[in-house]
Amino acid sequence: MTRVAPGHGNETRARGDAAEPGSRSCSAGKASILGVVMRIAHISDPHLLSLSGARWLDFANKRWIGGMNLLFKRGRHHKNEVFEAMVADLNDHRVDHVLCTGDVTNLALEPEFRFAREHFDRLELGFDGVTVLPGNHDAYVEGGSDQFREHFEPYFRSDPEWRRDDGHDHGAWPIVRVRPPVAIIGLSTSLHTPWFTAYGRLGSDQLERLREILRDPRLADAMRVVAIHHPPIGGHAASRGRGLHDREEFARVLAEAGAELVLHGHEHRDLAGQLPGPNGAPIPVRGIQSGTFDDGKRDAMRARYRVYEITAGAAGRPEVVREELRAWAPSAGRFVDDETAVSARAAG
Ligand SMILES: [Fe+2]
Ligand SMILES: [Fe+2]
Repeated sequence: MTRVAPGHGNETRARGDAAEPGSRSCSAGKASILGVVMRIAHISDPHLLSLSGARWLDFANKRWIGGMNLLFKRGRHHKNEVFEAMVADLNDHRVDHVLCTGDVTNLALEPEFRFAREHFDRLELGFDGVTVLPGNHDAYVEGGSDQFREHFEPYFRSDPEWRRDDGHDHGAWPIVRVRPPVAIIGLSTSLHTPWFTAYGRLGSDQLERLREILRDPRLADAMRVVAIHHPPIGGHAASRGRGLHDREEFARVLAEAGAELVLHGHEHRDLAGQLPGPNGAPIPVRGIQSGTFDDGKRDAMRARYRVYEITAGAAGRPEVVREELRAWAPSAGRFVDDETAVSARAAG
């Protein structure tokens, strides 16, 4: 069993302790032995590409260079059929919640959002069982954020008692979805940024609200999972061009208010690190590969998703007791238990 104590930052995955490939019963058996009460799947960066309905005129704006680049290079490596296989695997794999940390599209064009939404709707868990955040690509063209909201709002709607509508730029962010014993606190770093940049920013309003949420007594017994597109730590986060500009402020909030797990996307890699929580106790920070990537070469970047198994915990907050990494297997044409021993790299 891979035991990850809450706040333990050494996230290297142990070899050979996962369920047998394709063995649902084995996994379920272990889960009941461990008293697992929730299985949450982390997916990210599907970059679902559809050009049906997109007019060439759509690219005749200031983003046309990026658009052409994506069309002719990137699109070849992000494969919709991989996402379809992931959806089938998730539907078959008995998870209780699916969390996607952004970049559902490439260019934030309306046909892409429609196409992406159709794919997410195939997840049997539905709106309440699937949470989707925006990434920088979902604001690639002006108006992208509105399109994301229009098409994906049911997938990031806060629980009624946590909703706010105060007219700030980030609108409803952070969102809060309590799925006992977990509370998902979703952030938006999605911005319409200048050419050739991909950075993100939370903003002071969102950070202040995050602090309030993390301290809210209603979450005193919950495992607080903070979901964010951009990685908040390491060299990736520090990049001016594609990092998180207010990462230090974010770190301060977590140091003061605490969280049990931070999940992110954006780098398309299995990254692991930690942030100091209250009294210095480490908060694990984890990334994951793109959910559609397969270029036939870079195995470490090949599409994967991770399942976190969580127990209610005898004392204190719930905790992750086991992880399972599922990997796209091109030869099998489906996702299987990861057997490549690709361990999470230290972030930064
Ligand atoms: Fe991405
Ligand atoms: Fe991104």
